[in-house]
Amino acid sequence: MILIKLGGSIITNKEKPLSPRKKTIENLAKSIRKINEPMIIVHGGGSYGHYWSVKYDMHTKPRKYNQKGVSIIKNSMIDLNKIILDSFVKNRLNPYCLPPTDFMGGNKPILKKVKEIEKISKANFIPVTFGDALWYGQGKTYILSGDKIMTHLSKILKPRLCIFALKEDGLYSDLKSKKLIYELKNEKPTFSETKMDVTGGMTRKVEEASNISKMGINVFFVNGNKPDRIVKAIKNKKFEGTLFRGK
Ligand code: IPE
Repeated sequence: MILIKLGGSIITNKEKPLSPRKKTIENLAKSIRKINEPMIIVHGGGSYGHYWSVKYDMHTKPRKYNQKGVSIIKNSMIDLNKIILDSFVKNRLNPYCLPPTDFMGGNKPILKKVKEIEKISKANFIPVTFGDALWYGQGKTYILSGDKIMTHLSKILKPRLCIFALKEDGLYSDLKSKKLIYELKNEKPTFSETKMDVTGGMTRKVEEASNISKMGINVFFVNGNKPDRIVKAIKNKKFEGTLFRGK
């Protein structure tokens, strides 16, 4: 089984609120069709949930956030999720919509529920979940990122590999020259952060990718605008991107 995270910056235009990249989503769906093994798809918030979480100053730390903000973030994620699901159905992918409330209790994954997701994927559905604003308990809420979901699912399901589809070719050691880091093993990468994306950001993705690779799972960062690279990474072919080597 494999896990694929579709970053918010690839499925939406992060520069412009509420703007899905429908053609990109369509192309991703077409490439995903070429993968013939069980998989789970996680997507980010981009110019939907992420945009509103910045507007309403909502973060990953559980707190008593603005309730209207929580509702708006949740609603927007449903809208974005629906666009992904529709595109998947159109491309005959049999998506199975799973909001994270289905398998999260507070900020912990529910073991039994997560194991059920694996069964659903092995039965030829493609479970599709997403980063969201979630209930934590005692009046508090928090943002669960899609990147964090990747770590939660990996810990329990031990996928064969994980893919993060980004809007860049991978991790650059130097942003100006766009020098790509091809492989990392047990090392903390030194990389330069893009100025445009401070809040969502690479830092968190890199952190989760390192966490997952430490579990002995290979993690690939690939350019989602060239979705064939996702297929190549999965089929063990030569591809462009960054590999966090776990095994
Ligand atoms: C964000 O999920 C979820 C919300 C803010 C509601 P991610 O943090 O995984 O989203 P991207 O991929 O960075 O946009």
